[in-house]
Amino acid sequence: MSQVSDAAETAARAANAPLIQVRDASRSFQLGSEQVYAVRHVNLEIRRNRFVTLVGRSGSGKTTLLNLLAGLDHPTEGKVLFEDRDLADFSEGEMINLRRNRIGVVFQSFALLPLLSAYENVELPLRISGVGARERSRRTDEVLEMVGLTRRARHRPFELSGGEQQRISIARAVAIQPDIMLADEPTGELDSTNASNIFGLFREMSRERGMTVVATTHDRTLLDMADEIYEMSDGTLVQRSGPAQDPEALFKRPDEVDEG
Ligand SMILES: Nc1ncnc2c1ncn2[C@@H]1O[C@H](COP(=O)(O)OP(=O)(O)O)[C@@H](O)[C@H]1O
Ligand SMILES: [Mg+2]
Repeated sequence: MSQVSDAAETAARAANAPLIQVRDASRSFQLGSEQVYAVRHVNLEIRRNRFVTLVGRSGSGKTTLLNLLAGLDHPTEGKVLFEDRDLADFSEGEMINLRRNRIGVVFQSFALLPLLSAYENVELPLRISGVGARERSRRTDEVLEMVGLTRRARHRPFELSGGEQQRISIARAVAIQPDIMLADEPTGELDSTNASNIFGLFREMSRERGMTVVATTHDRTLLDMADEIYEMSDGTLVQRSGPAQDPEALFKRPDEVDEG
């Protein structure tokens, strides 16, 4: 095999390697004399450029698992690897860098700053990351357009609807150009039309921006839009659907899949 195709194959493998791997991870809490497992013995691989949903009823462990993926919390047993490295081995500085540049987080409550305009809310993390003024304004304009809120840029959060506020919080997470966006019940406060628009946006981001998205939901009507669906129940994970069972398909471009 030539060096060129070797290199191409290595690159293809790297692109196809999981971004995050959860290996037999559990997270338990000591409540009095009782040990409560929020997540138990979960194995999961999050691949690049995919839109993954975690579905399950309230209390099934979705938030706890998402926090483990984000490195906001650590498993009490097992491990979580980011690009093959145990998150437990990351220094404080490396964790800060990871959250500023590689992992975007979106919460159900939006977590926007009320005194800042939509534009300023999106721009702030870029300032914190030291992105220069011109690039900051370019990216902020771009993501506001992506979420369809260019005309609302000067408005404060309280002047926006719930759906618009959530789109601002998504724009804020996307502006840092993370490898992965983790969204915890991002549609929890929204009506069904807005909820479906947000999931449509996630799908588009994974297809067109090469971003991985993991979103939790308890709304089963949204699941069709995801590439992979995992069901959580009592802290454990069961894959419901998705092409992960067919590793060959991961090497094909979407336009190759149906060709003979
Ligand atoms: N900090 C904590 N202390 C004790 N129990 C917790 C804590 N966080 C979560 N749990 C418990 O773990 C289970 C899963 O919670 P959670 O991950 O929030 O579920 P979900 O997001 O699916 O609603 C619940 O029974 C919850 O009460
Ligand atoms: Mg939750």
